[in-house]
Amino acid sequence: CLTVEIPQRTLVVLCGSAGSGKSTFAHNLIARHKNQGLKPTVIVSSDQCRAMISDDEANQFVNRDTFDLFHFIIHKRMFQDRFTIADSTALQVEARQRLLALAQRHHYHTCLFIFNIPPALCIQRDQQRQRLVGEQVIAYHTNLLQQALLDAPKENWNQLHILDEHTKVELAFLPN
Ligand code: CTP
Ligand code: MG
Repeated sequence: CLTVEIPQRTLVVLCGSAGSGKSTFAHNLIARHKNQGLKPTVIVSSDQCRAMISDDEANQFVNRDTFDLFHFIIHKRMFQDRFTIADSTALQVEARQRLLALAQRHHYHTCLFIFNIPPALCIQRDQQRQRLVGEQVIAYHTNLLQQALLDAPKENWNQLHILDEHTKVELAFLPN
């Protein structure tokens, strides 16, 4: 079990392929920390933002508005000093930079979790769910992931953790 010590004013950024288990991880994490006041609303999900504006969690034609909304909600949460988990693939350097810059503007602590999950497992999990992303997208994401693993250590994250399919994470909130 990996214990991650973070201040309350932290932006956790999830980074990984479709089907790597990011949303499942986020929901399990808040469930385990319910007694510390974590609620499902700490998770800001790009797929939920997509659904909010288009009624379709998979609509790729509304990316710009989806991410405007995604960043806007995160930005507004930071004004309220709320602990926040950004649930998107964050596989592109620009996506991570935008989140990092936003957090830095608010003097937030930043914590990046990279999901280093074998593509075969992502594909298997993808096939078991309702909304299928498909093997081609996962193959593309796997390439981006390899680049993210190389790039992320050079980016200015306060904390960087690389998770595999077995890693269990515990949060330890530092006093303000
Ligand atoms: N899953 C699983 N065991 C895990 C993690 C995930 O069985 N340890 C399953 C989930 O129940 C889900 C599928 O794998 O049906 C994909 O997991 P999800 O958390 O939705 O993956 P994400 O990374 O969030 O995928 P996306 O980027 O497409 O949202
Ligand atoms: Mg998800």
